[in-house]
Amino acid sequence: MLFCFACQQKKDSTNTYYQEQHRPQFHFTPEKGWMNDPNGLVYYDGEYHMFYQHYPDSTVWGPMHWGHAISKDLVGWEHLPIALYPDSLGYIFSGSIVVDENNTTGFQTGKEKPLVAIFTYHDMVKEKLGRNDRESQGIAYSLDKGRTWTKYEKNPVIPNKGDTDFRDPKVFWHEASKHWIMPLAVGKKLEIFTSPNLKEWEKASEFGLKESVNDGVWECPDLISFKTEAGVEKWVLIQNIGRGAINGGSGTQYFVGNFDGKTFTNDNSPETKLWLDYGADNYAGVTWFNAPNNERIYIGWMSNWDDYANLVPTSTWRSGMTVPRKLTLINTPDGYRLAQMPVKQLETLRISSTNIPKQTITNTLSIDNKSVLNELDLSFDLSASTATELGFVLSNSKNEKLIVGYDKTSKQIFIDRTNAGKSDFSSKFAKKHKAPFNDVKELTIKALVDNASIEVFVNGGKIAMTDLFFPTEDYTKIELYSKGGNTELVSGTIHPLKSIWVKK
Ligand code: FRU
Repeated sequence: MLFCFACQQKKDSTNTYYQEQHRPQFHFTPEKGWMNDPNGLVYYDGEYHMFYQHYPDSTVWGPMHWGHAISKDLVGWEHLPIALYPDSLGYIFSGSIVVDENNTTGFQTGKEKPLVAIFTYHDMVKEKLGRNDRESQGIAYSLDKGRTWTKYEKNPVIPNKGDTDFRDPKVFWHEASKHWIMPLAVGKKLEIFTSPNLKEWEKASEFGLKESVNDGVWECPDLISFKTEAGVEKWVLIQNIGRGAINGGSGTQYFVGNFDGKTFTNDNSPETKLWLDYGADNYAGVTWFNAPNNERIYIGWMSNWDDYANLVPTSTWRSGMTVPRKLTLINTPDGYRLAQMPVKQLETLRISSTNIPKQTITNTLSIDNKSVLNELDLSFDLSASTATELGFVLSNSKNEKLIVGYDKTSKQIFIDRTNAGKSDFSSKFAKKHKAPFNDVKELTIKALVDNASIEVFVNGGKIAMTDLFFPTEDYTKIELYSKGGNTELVSGTIHPLKSIWVKK
């Protein structure tokens, strides 16, 4: 059975903006140069701001600036000028932005609320001298909706007392204690600081020495609360770790527990490892401050710091973000767990919709073998399988293929990019990534494909996997498969997606 939607994917051949090979079309990437972590995620006055670790002069990591973009809907992005430049105190490493609603800083002069950025200064002079007091925390503020920034003249607000890795403040307002709270990654643990005014900080507690898994430093924490269905407040600590993730290199763990305004306590044993994403390419992700309806909207950097971030084969730019995802906390027999799905607004990018009728897959079901399959939103609802393995494959005429599947014997969801295209830039790239998964009476797989990345969400986002891949030519074929038995396809939908990048 064949469905074709090539006709809906006409491209304007005169437009070269964001048209380089491997360039994502509906994910955020910088116009040029290097990007890593999302920073300063804040919603204010109808605009989602995203700042990001940026080196505009090269496609490899270097002196860190904060790049800046805004969105009204988390779908389209407008590039704005660089917000923060390195200065005599150092490079501007990762951090967050808050809306100082009650003017606790005293920075407010007119009607606009101050947006206050809290970030890490990384002093390269001290680093070169081998000093371990190289990182400190600074602040800057904007009184014009994030357009221009003034650094606080008394920076740093938290000097370094001797910890080499002392960074990535992710500040929020804690209404119950009427204080600002700053989770900070310090070595292989978390420190929590509190402040009445974002200028004077006091250390309140530590967390994680027992929970540290390996030799990877902790980076980019985020402590967020959820209201459970029973109306109880639960807290989740998102914790990025530089090395030792379940599928190699850097990755993101999370802990579920409680927070009393000073201390975070873990509901689970220190040995319980919860992974936010089982792919190899989602790192340094955090959530928006002040998002409407108190939603927890998350975005991550689609790469792997430890394994190949500086090496991936892109041209004028390097790295993109994941799509924005809505996080929820679900009650499971094992306790509370995070679930995540792409934000609904992304559905506005759908060009058309192809439904694949209900049927039994006995071996392979070819869905399309003519179109260019670069930007897709796919959903498959599969059930009653006697197969040992099932899933779908994207491939091209060179037999490069990306496979997403469920292996019943090992009870694992996987993305196999072993033969998906280019991989000679790193021996750590051509791999199969796996996520343990038991809950398979029904298997719903949603996947977003964007030229060089796939994000997979299983059973309503209970499992998420994000992987990069670099085919040498476009994928033009998609098929579902069922090995060692049959699989019922309950429903399937394919939406080609349009680009968000139009040069102004
Ligand atoms: C995470 C990270 C942060 C640091 C920034 C430097 O990717 O290493 O810990 O602030 O990147 O660019």
